[in-house]
Formats: sequence, C-alpha cells, structure tokens
Amino acid sequence: MLVKPRGPGVDSPTEAVVTGWGKVDGRPAYVYSFDFTLLGGSLSEAVGEKISKVMNLAMSTGAPVIGIQDSGGARIQDGSEALRGYGDIFCLNVLASGVIPQLTVIMGPSAGGGAYSPALTDFIFATEGSGQMYITGPDVIRAVTGEEVTHEELGGAHALASRSGVAHFAIQGEEETLAEVRRLLSFLPSNNAEDPPLMPSGDDPDRAEDDLLTLVPAEPNRPYDVREVIDRIVDDGDFMEVHELFAANMVVGFARMAGQSVGIVANQPMVLAGSIDINASRKAARFVRFCDAFNIPVVTLVDTPGYLPGITQEYGGILTHGAKLLFAYSEATVPKITVVLRKAVGGAYLAMGSKSMRTDMNFGWPTTEIPVMGPEGAVNVVYREELANAADPAARRAELIEEYRQKLANPYIAAGRGFLDDVIDPRHTRRKIIRALEMLRNKADHNPPKKHGNIPL
Ligand code: HXC
Repeated sequence: MLVKPRGPGVDSPTEAVVTGWGKVDGRPAYVYSFDFTLLGGSLSEAVGEKISKVMNLAMSTGAPVIGIQDSGGARIQDGSEALRGYGDIFCLNVLASGVIPQLTVIMGPSAGGGAYSPALTDFIFATEGSGQMYITGPDVIRAVTGEEVTHEELGGAHALASRSGVAHFAIQGEEETLAEVRRLLSFLPSNNAEDPPLMPSGDDPDRAEDDLLTLVPAEPNRPYDVREVIDRIVDDGDFMEVHELFAANMVVGFARMAGQSVGIVANQPMVLAGSIDINASRKAARFVRFCDAFNIPVVTLVDTPGYLPGITQEYGGILTHGAKLLFAYSEATVPKITVVLRKAVGGAYLAMGSKSMRTDMNFGWPTTEIPVMGPEGAVNVVYREELANAADPAARRAELIEEYRQKLANPYIAAGRGFLDDVIDPRHTRRKIIRALEMLRNKADHNPPKKHGNIPL
C-alpha cells in the first residue's frame, strides 16, 4: 500500500511502514514492518491507516498478522492524528484477539504507543541486542523519578522476557528470531474457526519410555527437570517452550502428539519446588486461554506442593492472580488431559486441570499423592496435641507422616473416588495421552450463553 506522508516537512513517496502478505508453510499471513529510516519509523495517521488495512484484511480472510516493530512511537509532528492512528490499531488488536493469531517481533526500539499495540497481541518475540520496548525511555524516567537505567536494562530483550514477562521469547539474531516466528505459526491454526495443521512425524504413537520410570524421584520433595518428561512424551522431543525465562516454576509451550498440536502446561519441581506463585498462575492462565481460543488441546503435567505461601504473595494479590488459573481451566472447552506425575496438593491440585475443572481425562502415575495439604503440614495441624505430649515427638511425627501418606496420599484413593480415570504405567504416558486425544477429536463443549465472563484481572 503506497500512502504518502501528510504531515509537515516530510517529502517521501511512501510512509514509515511496509505492509503486505505472503505465505508461511503454504498458508497466508499478513505482515507490517516499520521503516526506521523514515522519521524513526514513527506512527502518523497514514501509518495507522496502512496497519489497520492489513489487520482488517487478516481478520476478514482468517490469517495471522505479524507486526515487526522498529519505531519511535507516535509521530511527534502529527499530534493528535498520530494518536488516533494508534487508537484504531489498539481497537483492532482487541477485536482480532481470539479470532486470528497476532504475533509481534521487537527488532528495534518500540516506545510509547509502539509498545502498547504489541502488549495487546498474543506472542512477543524480542531480538537480543536490538529489540527494546518500554512505555517511556531512560531520559523521561531520569527526569521524572531520578532513576538511572540504560535502554537495554530497561527494555532489552532479556529484561522483557525475564523481568516483566512482556516478551515470550528473547532470541539471538534477526534471522533466528524470524525462524522462531515461523516455527510458532506451524503449531497454530490460521484462525479460530480452524484446527491446527496435522503434521505427523513418524514418531511411533505407542513408543514406550523406560526412562520415565526413574526420571521422577520417588521422594516427593526431590527436584527434577519436568522438561525431560515433556521431551520424552511429545513427537521427536520437539517442544517449543513459551516464556522460558519468566516464572520458570511453571513450564508452558507447544508440541505435537501423533502430529496433533497440543499446549503443554507443567509444574517445574526444579524451581520453587514447582509451587504456583502469582507469575506462574498468570503465565499458565494466559497460555491455556490462548490454546482454548485456537482449538489447541491442553495437556497438563502436575507435580506441585501447592500455591506458594508468603506475605509478598498475599499482598501481591495471589488470590486474584491464582484464581486466573482456575478460571482459565474451567472455561476452556478444548480437550483437556491431565497427568499427575507425583504430588498434587490442595488448591494447586484443583487449579492444574483437576476433574472439577471439566477435564476430560485424568491419569495418575503410581507415585500420585492428592492430599488437601502436604503430609508434614497436615500432621502438624491434626496431631498438634498428640505431638506436644509424645515422649519422642520427632519419631512420632515421622510415623504419623508415613501413616498419613499411606492412608490419604496414594493414587488408588483418588481413582476410587473418580478423581482419576486411570492409574497408568509411566512408560506408557505418551500412548495414553495420544489415545485420549484421538478419542476427544470431535469434542464439542459449550459454556453458558453470556457476553463474556469476568476473569479476575
Ligand atoms: C518523529 C521521530 C520520533 C517520533 C524518532 N524520530 N522518534 N520523529 N516522531 N516519535 C526521528 C528522530 O528525530 C530522528 O530524525 C530519527 O527519527 C532517528 O531518531 P534518533 O533519535 O536519531 O535515533 P536513535 O538514537 O536510534 O533513538 C531511537 C529512539 C529515539 C530511542 C526511538 O528516537 C526516541 O527516544 N524517540 C522518541 C520516543 C518516544 O518518546 N516516543 C513516544 C512518542 S509518544 P532525524 O531527522 O534526526 O534523522 C507516543 C504516545 C502514544 O507514542 C500513546 C498511546 C497510548
């Protein structure tokens, strides 16, 4: 689209953004990419119109839109007209949310309005070294708050991906960043009316994994890397982790099982013992909602001692943020399959795709424990008096903990009550999940009619 700048003092045959469409793996996708060489890629009214045009086309034809950011924000010379350009884009971002995938690539500066539009999209990729995004840069911060910070510390790729979680991916190199954008698109449908493309790889759906017998330590508190489990159950060990650097106590990402795209959500016992804190809940809830919007089944692997206790968490609003996860799982209508690998305690058990959250198939490994609270804490509460009067409190406590574990914390009690559909051999986890996915392929589920729910934001 060739639109000339209208503002004062700019003589150029076209505006500061390049727009168009192409194909990724044979499927159409729309792109807009800022041109920093024209007034720093700043956004004028005409730039806004060009972007709105491709976004409208993307929505009406049901194809993803990718925005490549390299912009100084609203064109200062254009005043309120530039602001309107942003306003129109923000509104389209919202209308397109859940209809077509919207991806952003931060390859240069993204300041002011140039940062809000990305924040409204589904996934943000930031290129290390060149991509920087913030609402106001270091100069304004110094003037207003007196704080000293560099551009990179404030909004560089690493800061965006690890500190705030605003970016989902921080990647070294521009080519590599764009390759990852294409990789992500391969897991997604073009729009919310389609299923993701089926891409069988030849990896045997019945493949058994002996390693799974030993990967997860039997002792409930011993850490391990849950990504090792994921690698062994998905096709070819190909797992595209999302938000790797943010809230690492929860692992989320895309993979395929017998060629079908799935979203994986897993507690990570290696970080904060796999407990769920504010950021982990926000991260997983947003991911589950994305999967649900785009017809991607959710596979959940559970091994968590519970929600993280603490004053910081309470004051930070763990009740509001933790509830997001309950909300996301409960409202999701895509196929939902949960495997409890070891422990699933209290509220965290409920939130991580429990039966009550309308999950379709719940499996447990023989190491499964589903107590209301951890045995240590439970014994302290229930047997407080007995322990205070015991001749050898430590020995009695150990006895009671073991008793509690035997009585309440084994998979057959949960299975007997219908909380688990099956207790499975860990080696056959891949096969069990794939069979369940096949069984659920035509699942049709609906929520009660409403304008929209009121997720605890
Ligand atoms: C007009 C701009 C511009 C802008 C940069 N330029 N930003 N022109 N409007 N917003 C021009 C510069 O004048 C310069 O022109 C050229 O682009 C390159 O800019 P440099 O500063 O030389 O480049 P660099 O040193 O790489 O710094 C890049 C930058 C910096 C970090 C992006 O330009 C910057 O801080 N710009 C302003 C960022 C900002 O505060 N934007 C917020 C706008 S308000 P010449 O002719 O010298 O080459 C906003 C509100 C929206 O966006 C609110 C919505 C909610």
